[in-house]
Amino acid sequence: GFEVTCKASGTRVFVGPDVSVLDALSDAGVQVPNSCQEGVCGTCETKVLGGEPEHRDFVLSQAERDAGETMMICVSRCRSAELVLDL
Ligand code: FES
Repeated sequence: GFEVTCKASGTRVFVGPDVSVLDALSDAGVQVPNSCQEGVCGTCETKVLGGEPEHRDFVLSQAERDAGETMMICVSRCRSAELVLDL
């Protein structure tokens, strides 16, 4: 698992292996618009301020994946110990 910090709200949540970032944030009271929850629609796209996203979506191009500036939090995860999101 890994820690997610929401920069604007200061909310911090631990995301375990069996839960999505989207669901972990929702449980902590941070609601992010979403739809498919399968990494295909792009609704949950969230700006990344820190950490190294592990992209598992079908929305971003390879260049966008490499840039690591945005991610689909319904399916994508994190390679580093902490992810900082613009939420
Ligand atoms: Fe559709 Fe995340 S909700 S890509």
